[in-house]
Amino acid sequence: MSMQGPKTREYFQRASKVMPYGVNSNFRYWGDEDTLVVKGGKGAYVWDMDGKRYIDYRLGFGPIILGHGYDAVVERVKETIGNGTVFAWTTPLEIEVAERLTRMTGNDKVRLTNTGSEATMHALRIARAYTNREKFIKFEGCYHGQVDYFMYSTASANSRMLGSRRSPISAATTSGIPLGINQYVLNLPFNDFERLEETIATKWHDIAAVIVEPVLGNAAGIFPVPGYLEKMRELTEKYGIVLIFDEVKTGFRLANGGAQEYFGIKADLATYAKAMGNGFPVAAIAGKEEVMMTIQPGAMAHGGTYSGNGVAVAAAAATLQTLEEEPVIETINKRGQRLMDGIDGILNDAGIPHVVTGAPAMFSLFMGSEEMPTDFRGYLEGDGDLYEAISMELIARGVQPDSDGREPWFLCYALSEEDVDYTLNAFEESVKAAKA
Ligand SMILES: Cc1ncc(COP(=O)(O)O)c(C=O)c1O
Repeated sequence: MSMQGPKTREYFQRASKVMPYGVNSNFRYWGDEDTLVVKGGKGAYVWDMDGKRYIDYRLGFGPIILGHGYDAVVERVKETIGNGTVFAWTTPLEIEVAERLTRMTGNDKVRLTNTGSEATMHALRIARAYTNREKFIKFEGCYHGQVDYFMYSTASANSRMLGSRRSPISAATTSGIPLGINQYVLNLPFNDFERLEETIATKWHDIAAVIVEPVLGNAAGIFPVPGYLEKMRELTEKYGIVLIFDEVKTGFRLANGGAQEYFGIKADLATYAKAMGNGFPVAAIAGKEEVMMTIQPGAMAHGGTYSGNGVAVAAAAATLQTLEEEPVIETINKRGQRLMDGIDGILNDAGIPHVVTGAPAMFSLFMGSEEMPTDFRGYLEGDGDLYEAISMELIARGVQPDSDGREPWFLCYALSEEDVDYTLNAFEESVKAAKA
């Protein structure tokens, strides 16, 4: 059965005539029958063109930390933009955002940009300039945006990790990347102490950076095993490698100070986007004084016409203020924990082998085994089809997680206890329907 009602279908067909596959990002295409067109959202809900309401656990792939159309954010943006949005000078709002961000995350300095991809791209350049080295380590299943350098062995559709765990082969996730780029990328399985140690010990003189999603936000929220991030920090420090925490998904979601606060580990650089602006396009590269000051006018470039623009900084200022002044993460964690526990119980009662992965603010499910996957290869051994079947039943009932378990369930502050109750009831029915 199609997810589209008649009006949604009509709009999707119109979109397909003028946009490849009817979407502005490949990740939004679920096939011709199941790609939605959305009229809008408010709080924890979105409505499609037929007026069907969904409790939204995709939240635009994570940015909506407060809720759709959150009043304090919308008002701040409205107040600001009448006064102009780009000046090619610094504005007081940029200063406010930089002060809030550094205070909340413990980074010394920050530069703003617009998207996560821009942030990671600049972070890698800074690391290369700082170390005067060119290669970098990333981890299988980690996604760091649409930058050519990072589009290897990501958790994208059809992904299959190549080579053995012992000697993984970096595989381009997309056509269109020059072959030569591969020589700069070292992809390792996550949570493998031995591979990390051996790779760094033998190749450190070429390695500028280790970039990691501290929690695999694009691979079911797989967690680092105890001591792994600490080992990463120890080795990068020892060999003068820049440690980049890509906090585009974990930032302002795991904690106000992101994964650095959550795990008590200080990276050299961290990238933020998503939850920082509650759905407005704003991002940041932040880090230690010495590394950030590699940026140098005329010598080491960071720039962008829209970096720190009025729309972005107004949204970020209001979002960060709300996060600082209200119990946002605490509330989300409470509701998320109820969901995780409830779902766990329902799957246990149904006799479906599974583990609940991730953290309450961004959790997922691994099905087909009781053993927690520790890397993306492990995740790929699960039962993705069963997960998808249950998700599609949920969506039919007005509860919308992603149909792909790699994408976590994201929660926002606007999600109520009643929404959690509704979701758990729908989940129970969906499991029964999927099993049938
Ligand atoms: C961890 C991570 N880094 C970077 C990005 C890229 O961010 P953007 O889509 O804003 O370019 C994403 C996007 O999902 C992400 O999850």
